[in-house]
Amino acid sequence: MTHQVTIRASGHTFSVEQDESVLDAALRQGIILPYGCRNGACGSCMGSLASGSVAYEQGLPAALSEQDAAANKALFCQARPQSDLEIIVHEVDSARDIEVKTLPCRVEKLEHLAHDVIRIYLRLPASERLQFLAGQYIDVLIKDHEPRAFSIANAPHDDEFVELHIRFVEGGLFTDQVFHSMKEKAMWRVRGPLGTFFLREDSDRPAILIGGGTGFAPIKGILEHAFEIGIDKPLNLYRGVRARRDLYLDELPQQWLKQHPHFSYTPVLSEPMDSDNWSGATGYVTDAVLADYPDLSGHDVYMSGPPPMVEAGHKLFMQHGLDESRFFSDAFTYAAVAESIKGLRQD
Ligand code: FES
Repeated sequence: MTHQVTIRASGHTFSVEQDESVLDAALRQGIILPYGCRNGACGSCMGSLASGSVAYEQGLPAALSEQDAAANKALFCQARPQSDLEIIVHEVDSARDIEVKTLPCRVEKLEHLAHDVIRIYLRLPASERLQFLAGQYIDVLIKDHEPRAFSIANAPHDDEFVELHIRFVEGGLFTDQVFHSMKEKAMWRVRGPLGTFFLREDSDRPAILIGGGTGFAPIKGILEHAFEIGIDKPLNLYRGVRARRDLYLDELPQQWLKQHPHFSYTPVLSEPMDSDNWSGATGYVTDAVLADYPDLSGHDVYMSGPPPMVEAGHKLFMQHGLDESRFFSDAFTYAAVAESIKGLRQD
């Protein structure tokens, strides 16, 4: 049986299916409530019941005392509604609302996605989940060196692992280690989530999302989140890479094209190889965007990639009517800052 939940302060409502927790249902429908461990141990998801009742599958969870329960407190990561509910809880509506944590994690799986891109799945301790907004990044902490920033490539609803896409940087100490000597089960320390690059869900404007190289990673997280919560405005993805072999995970947007009529996909190669037999768009990815959308005054633009590409895009798109406040980028320094993707506009 389905129950309706209303959040008192905002009036937001969402439905909770049989056997679903209040938190899982809220996240599934794009309402972000605070959480930490998601297993009843930390208390981060605690709120109050203004009306209605909940049950817990295995008795009161560790972080909820008898007194708390008697005072109508609830742990929403474990609570199953027994009726419609009105709840009192703080909704997360900006990156500022999310606690930044430093956590140990284990490299669970390494996967080569392209000749110079590795996908890493990080597993956090069993008692921890990393709450984040799709598109944010984490710092990988390295002893005696500057932290390395990598975007989170998965969406919050799918948070068993933290997924990173790491591009090999010639002469880069960290990526050299990742590509040549790191093994699964290695232990890392990470800090996050960080950054303000995330989907503005309250905007009705069509969105153009541009990923240069591994800048596809946060865009992937944002799109998977948008599909999950049912955003149905136009979402137009552009990817800029050098050649066909750099277009890693191309099957994913191809699959989204079949599933989501409001989604479009334009891969752009700056230096296609003869063997690519490429008949798609070529040149600068920013030019491909402007060829399709010469007037950007009604759009939101999300851009991720090498800083010179993002800076150039920013400048160019402003000249084509984009409202300054509708340009979103992850302006942090990539591990790959030492190089930029050749062939993308750098002026
Ligand atoms: S998220 Fe930790 S107790 Fe609910």
